[in-house]
Amino acid sequence: MIGTDIHQAADLLRQGQLVAIPTETVYGLAGNAFHEKALADIFLVKNRPHFDPLIVHTDTLEKLEALALHVPDVAQRLAAAFMPGPLTLLLPKHPRIPDLVTAGSELVALRIPSHPLALQLLALLDFPLAAPSANPFGYVSPTTAAHVAAQLGLKIPYILDGGPCQVGLESTIAGFDENEQVTIYRKGGIAVEAIEAIAGPVRVQAHSSSNPLAPGMLKSHYAPRVPLVLGDLETLAAQHDGKKIGVLAFQNPVPGIPAEQQVVLSASADLQEAARRLFSAMRHLDSLDMDIIIAELLPERDLGRAVNDRLKRAAAAG
Ligand code: TXA
Ligand code: MG
Repeated sequence: MIGTDIHQAADLLRQGQLVAIPTETVYGLAGNAFHEKALADIFLVKNRPHFDPLIVHTDTLEKLEALALHVPDVAQRLAAAFMPGPLTLLLPKHPRIPDLVTAGSELVALRIPSHPLALQLLALLDFPLAAPSANPFGYVSPTTAAHVAAQLGLKIPYILDGGPCQVGLESTIAGFDENEQVTIYRKGGIAVEAIEAIAGPVRVQAHSSSNPLAPGMLKSHYAPRVPLVLGDLETLAAQHDGKKIGVLAFQNPVPGIPAEQQVVLSASADLQEAARRLFSAMRHLDSLDMDIIIAELLPERDLGRAVNDRLKRAAAAG
């Protein structure tokens, strides 16, 4: 069922059931982070391998700090700047967080979403919520309640509808070494440049095909079912002449291909607008039954870097 009743959502979560929740990034498949059965169900419903750990969501910095053994100075500065918001911090985990949440790691991923419904719901609960993106493992993340319903609607009792996600890309994941050096493990809703303005130069971990620390960084991820190729759109359109071609363009459509087969992410070249619309556009193009989707990279700055990361991973799957 889809609805906007946070009390019903809270009751279900208290019973150990799963609820899809809106966040500013993407919809999450949420369960009580202290409840082993709810955690097991998250992996089951998503068809997610157990080695891929979950992000834990809470609503205040005080509660967040209580879930970590300690919070380095630089992490505190980032939290002050960007929380609530699309930032996830990897911190040494408090022993009361079950190993199932972290896949056995001593680090836990913590975040405070900024969506008002998510914050109101979390404030009603006396436990934090473990929540991966509410999509089957490997597929594009959902940015509307309808996206969730289309894939998981029959498997969960309630989808809390908070409208379309305003950021549209998953949170940026940042970790810290003993020297307080920051590493970005996933580019996301907070631009690397914005992190650097607070924390100084950061390392950005290239995605890999076998990274045990953050398996969600697997190269082929976020993928539509129709093969997606990246490059110069007009060149690709010529190469695939004769096929049914879907187009994922940044600013301008490709001449000669029907408009209904094309999505322009931002006619005004606004990187935030493009990020907000990306996953919806991928899903839409995927639903058109094309032979191929051709896409182009965005400028490699600000949220364009995170969009390009998702586009490359989608292309790697095909
Ligand atoms: O924006 C978001 O972060 C969304 C919303 C729902 O909050 N959540 C999300 O979760 O994207 P998920 O599970 O789809 O991606 C979480 C990523 C995965 O790549 C996972 O491997 C990594 O975070 N991760 C979680 N806990 C970790 C840990 N303890 N150590 C390393 N990586 C971790
Ligand atoms: Mg995900």
